[in-house]
Amino acid sequence: MDIQQYWDKAHDKYAATDWIDKPSLFAEWALQYLPHGGALLDLGAGQAQDSCFFAGKGFDVIATDLSAHALDLAKAKFLAAEFQVVNMAMPLPYSDEQFEVVYAHLSVHYFDSSQTHKLFAEIRRVLKPGGVFAALCNSDQDPEISEGQEIEPNYIEIDGITKRYFNPNDAKEFTKEFEIVVADDQGTTYKDEAKGVHNLVRLVAMKPA
Ligand SMILES: C[S@@+](CC[C@H](N)C(=O)[O-])C[C@H]1O[C@@H](n2cnc3c(N)ncnc32)[C@H](O)[C@@H]1O
Repeated sequence: MDIQQYWDKAHDKYAATDWIDKPSLFAEWALQYLPHGGALLDLGAGQAQDSCFFAGKGFDVIATDLSAHALDLAKAKFLAAEFQVVNMAMPLPYSDEQFEVVYAHLSVHYFDSSQTHKLFAEIRRVLKPGGVFAALCNSDQDPEISEGQEIEPNYIEIDGITKRYFNPNDAKEFTKEFEIVVADDQGTTYKDEAKGVHNLVRLVAMKPA
């Protein structure tokens, strides 16, 4: 199964959950750090519940994902955003300084160290000066980290995909060209909260003005 098929299948499962149409806990929390409106790029938006939340708060949203299937499911529910298939492993197909906000909920943690540096540099490039990058990522405290095959420290192959696990310090390291607003491990999701997991890595970083 290739990576696209993996995610198409995952999205059929997500479609049946009770959290899939609700804004994430992270989106609601991150809103306080965002400007009041402007262009917002949602990377790995999946079924775009957070894109829809931000559109409702006055942002002009582009919801992107590798999975066209996820975006098709999203389009059937939400009209408030523009939808584009984008692979974050490639340079982002946007202009320099196009966005006030780049947002990523559980989607920038699939890459090795070199790709992650390139992706974060791309995110910085497409942000306006003073623009904000907000991301929630897997934590290196997640017991799953020991269940896969290590490719490099904190980066494993598991169930046919690769996953990176962050901690606040390496989140800061990857965003050292930004001004850090928050880098902590106090994040959670509806799915993780039900399991008692409250230590996902929250990152809010500003491109220097
Ligand atoms: C855990 S899901 C999160 C989806 C959504 N943000 C949410 O919170 O419900 C990860 C998402 O990242 C997307 N993704 C994985 N690798 C990607 C890549 N290389 N480029 C773009 N999107 C990718 C998947 O298709 C999937 O929708």
